[in-house]
Amino acid sequence: MAAEAQHTCYEGDNVHIFQFYLEHSGEHKAIVQCVNNLLAREFKRIGEGKSSLAVLGVGSGGGEVDAQILTLLQSIFPAVPITADIVEGSSELSDNFKALVAKTASLQKIPFGWHIMSSEDYVKQVKTKGEMKKFDFIHMIQMIYYVENLCETISFYHSLLKANGRLMIIVEAANSGWDTLWKTYSKELCVGVIKEYRSSAEVIACLESLGLKYDEHSAPNAFDITECFNPGSCHGERLLSFMTGSDKFHESFTPEIRAGMLDLLRRKCSTEKDGKVLFNSDLSCILVHA
Ligand SMILES: C[S@@+](CC[C@H](N)C(=O)[O-])C[C@H]1O[C@@H](n2cnc3c(N)ncnc32)[C@H](O)[C@@H]1O
Repeated sequence: MAAEAQHTCYEGDNVHIFQFYLEHSGEHKAIVQCVNNLLAREFKRIGEGKSSLAVLGVGSGGGEVDAQILTLLQSIFPAVPITADIVEGSSELSDNFKALVAKTASLQKIPFGWHIMSSEDYVKQVKTKGEMKKFDFIHMIQMIYYVENLCETISFYHSLLKANGRLMIIVEAANSGWDTLWKTYSKELCVGVIKEYRSSAEVIACLESLGLKYDEHSAPNAFDITECFNPGSCHGERLLSFMTGSDKFHESFTPEIRAGMLDLLRRKCSTEKDGKVLFNSDLSCILVHA
């Protein structure tokens, strides 16, 4: 293992701001609705005739969506033993996930393998040990932005799939508000952990270049960013900080850049309804075949 494990930016204040975002964006609701619709059928096919099932979550955060996915899988195959492995770079979010597991009755029979390290360290560890545990279902939900090399990462996790398995990647949709904001202001925004912004367009280009078979499904979402246009609003400032990946929106950019971003957010990334500005946060759910 690496002498010092790499962590992600999801520690301390960033965890609070992420949780604030989750509470106000409806993102988990949109993801859970999409996966519930899609996965019941997929899981029946993936698990058919198998005597055990192995799931891998990469960048699972606090595990709220993982808990739903595992509960669904267990309800479809109540008599089949299921294991869950988690690769997560944030120790704080992993602690939240462990606390969620402890209080969720439907997860008590599932043994968890915790790999509290970056995906890059996990890849190195697996390659060094030479033991490739294979999985029936692997998911990467809203985390592909942070990996160092998109195509190498997808190719590696795809190689861990068992027969009939699926790799599920959930990412912001091409031409969503996020895509427009981050590509228009890439010079200002892609300067921290995220060096190049990726939407479903980049993920699909990579799948095509690797020659992998996939299906794409949409998970529509929008959330209210009206407060972002209210100077002095703490709510708006926190949303803008998360949306721009900055510590504090007002301290991170010049007044001209902030004004330009706000204008873009209103005119190109959102729709207005009943006096509210609704940001287009549509997601794409991509199921890559084994
Ligand atoms: C936007 S959050 C999404 C969390 C969770 N999947 C969800 O949808 O709520 C991104 C997650 O990816 C994790 N992460 C970021 N970079 C990572 C990396 N290189 N390897 C593993 N996890 C990473 C972060 O710690 C965080 O938990």
